[in-house]
Amino acid sequence: MFEKIVVPKELIPSDPRFGAGPSLIPSEHINILLKKNRDLLGTSHRQLPFKNFVRELYEDIRTYFNLPTDYKILFGNGGATLLFNMIPLGLVKEKSLHFVCGAFSERWYKYSLETPYITTKKIDIEYDKMPNISDIKLFDEMNEKEKFANADLLAFTQLETSIGFELKSIPAKTNNQLIAIDATSSAGVLPCDFNNTDIHFWSLQKIFSSDGGTWMSILSPPAVERINQIETDKKRFIPHFMRWSEYINNNDKFESFNTPSIINLVLFHEQLKKLKAIGAQRVLAETVEKANYLYDWAQNHKHLSPLIENEFFRAQTVATIKIDSKIPADELTKYLREKNLVYGIGGYRSVAKKINHIRIALFPSINFEDLKRLTKLIDFLLDNV
Ligand SMILES: Cc1ncc(COP(=O)(O)O)c(C=O)c1O
Repeated sequence: MFEKIVVPKELIPSDPRFGAGPSLIPSEHINILLKKNRDLLGTSHRQLPFKNFVRELYEDIRTYFNLPTDYKILFGNGGATLLFNMIPLGLVKEKSLHFVCGAFSERWYKYSLETPYITTKKIDIEYDKMPNISDIKLFDEMNEKEKFANADLLAFTQLETSIGFELKSIPAKTNNQLIAIDATSSAGVLPCDFNNTDIHFWSLQKIFSSDGGTWMSILSPPAVERINQIETDKKRFIPHFMRWSEYINNNDKFESFNTPSIINLVLFHEQLKKLKAIGAQRVLAETVEKANYLYDWAQNHKHLSPLIENEFFRAQTVATIKIDSKIPADELTKYLREKNLVYGIGGYRSVAKKINHIRIALFPSINFEDLKRLTKLIDFLLDNV
């Protein structure tokens, strides 16, 4: 469909990576990795150089996220997906309630449902009936069903990467409830109210421009207390790899439970330092500016429209854009990939089967000028098809 089109040079983004994860890793961070060669890479995670590195990393996390001093920082191998198992197994006493708004929150709910010892309920917005989700009454519905009141853990996905849906608010927890937030595509840009959050977690491969396979989590004192209760009870079989206490014991000593990906942690730290220098407020403002630009572009285009109709729920860090059915998104993304112009803007697998759309990351590493070029490039292709 697009094969014969020749794209003018000035429309080509300086970096082709617009994927929502794994995301663009800045080349200068790879150069820094080379400098860490010998003194950190390929050395033990139980020795001083690594421990000093983790200590500094923790300080930067605490400052950037403005964390209460008694909150714990943990990390481990496995990515956020591992926590979809660790949370139901190690942090839910009897019942969890999941707010499901896309493929990742659905997966977390399913893993929870499969967990013995607990019961799991969900409230969902029937995201697969997209895009008719403009009139959902999110938390009113939760309260109505009264399930909210007797769950001891509430699970939210702050930013559903699969459909570009963002939760702008999280309901206040009641006594003895824990709130767990999957912030995989939002941590680092969207704020978190730690007074109303007990488990906040993400993978390093999104906003923090690192590679896949490492999770990071921030735990409140009540979450740590819950872990202790459940593990000392010994009524559950929890595999060692999924025991929160193993991570707490090691991470508290600035070590890691098993051998970590130091490369991932170094890349993460470099991005964190960059964001810290910009400041959290400005990072958010710059992202909002990019998101406004992109959604305005889609809204005013004759072949495009934002996938999430209700602008209140449009994600700031991952935009999903619907395309006229005459122009298959697959063909567009295939052409861009094969010509090495743009990578990673396809829709999430299950959603892409139902809705003709593309997904564009608006993470801090994605340069605004490149984003503008990307929109002009798509304009050009759609005008010349
Ligand atoms: C919202 C959300 N949660 C969880 C995950 C799983 O992360 P990982 O593949 O790093 O385990 C993803 C991955 O894209 C995600 O977007």
